Amino acid sequence: MRATARKEMTGQTENAGTGHIPVMQTEVLDFLGCKPGGIYVDATVGLGGHSQEILEKIQPGGLLIGIDRDKESLEKAQVRLKATSGDFRPVHDNFKNLPLILNNLAAKPVDGILLDLGVSSYQLLSLERGFSFQSDSMLDMRMDRSQRRTAADLVNTLSENELADVIYRYGEERFSRRIAAAIIQERHKAPIVRCNQLTDIVSRVFRVRGHQLIHPATRTFQALRIAVNEELEGLDEFLTEAFGFLNPGGRMVVIAFHSLEDRIVKKAFRRLAGQCVCDAPAGLCKCPRQALASLLTPRPITPGPKELTANPRARSARLRSLERK
Ligand SMILES: C[S@@+](CC[C@H](N)C(=O)[O-])C[C@H]1O[C@@H](n2cnc3c(N)ncnc32)[C@H](O)[C@@H]1O
Repeated sequence: MRATARKEMTGQTENAGTGHIPVMQTEVLDFLGCKPGGIYVDATVGLGGHSQEILEKIQPGGLLIGIDRDKESLEKAQVRLKATSGDFRPVHDNFKNLPLILNNLAAKPVDGILLDLGVSSYQLLSLERGFSFQSDSMLDMRMDRSQRRTAADLVNTLSENELADVIYRYGEERFSRRIAAAIIQERHKAPIVRCNQLTDIVSRVFRVRGHQLIHPATRTFQALRIAVNEELEGLDEFLTEAFGFLNPGGRMVVIAFHSLEDRIVKKAFRRLAGQCVCDAPAGLCKCPRQALASLLTPRPITPGPKELTANPRARSARLRSLERK
């Protein structure tokens, strides 16, 4: 299908030739409430699909700060955004450094912050980046290639218990202990350095378990990716800190792609909206219960059927948004 035809169907365009279609583009723009002259942060620029539309909407006079820890993606986004007029400031960094980034740019407070979490289709489909269980490349998975630790380092150095914990916690994989044991057995013979080596090891654990809905290595690869990139570490604290940089009326939009991430976002947003987020009995609750924000999405927004037809990869996306009071 041509990109223009897809846009007519879904309101979205594929990032030229990369396989990445921005998820819930219309909803992102609606919830961010982009206004001309505003200051916005796209904390996960990727190839700039969302950024392009935001930049257009905030003209004249708007500023868009675009962060990504993946230098290659950011460079591609810059090329793409050259054709769009407006002030776009690319920053190659971890969004968790947002306080420093905004200080350096003297760009506080801001009117909106977008986080489209996780890995992009571009990263997944760039087989040499080692994110895919279908690849025969090095088992890498670093979003930021200047970082030292790769997925191969984890697989070859963590203890059996540590591996099992990572695969269980970040992959929600029931067979984590068996997979960890199989990895240890194999790495005694030779280091596990390629994606397809690991795929074969995990697949053998599942061989006798019959038909699987998803590839048996999916959860193990997800777990290693989250661990290598420390995707969940400090996310809760980051959301609270980033909220502090919003103007009154400013909005935050977060798209999460798995339940672990979405749970953290849900809890942080509810806390900021003054709701109880603990499991303690009523009298023992110590939640601040101070409503600093209004929830714009009491329940998460998910992609509609048209979008899912055009972009099945969007199926697990959950969008949440809040507005600072
Ligand atoms: C799902 S993609 C974003 C796609 C983008 N919205 C678009 O339309 O092209 C997620 C991007 O966030 C980046 N990313 C993930 N965690 C990050 C972090 N902690 N700091 C900065 N960038 C991050 C990834 O490198 C990836 O490019």
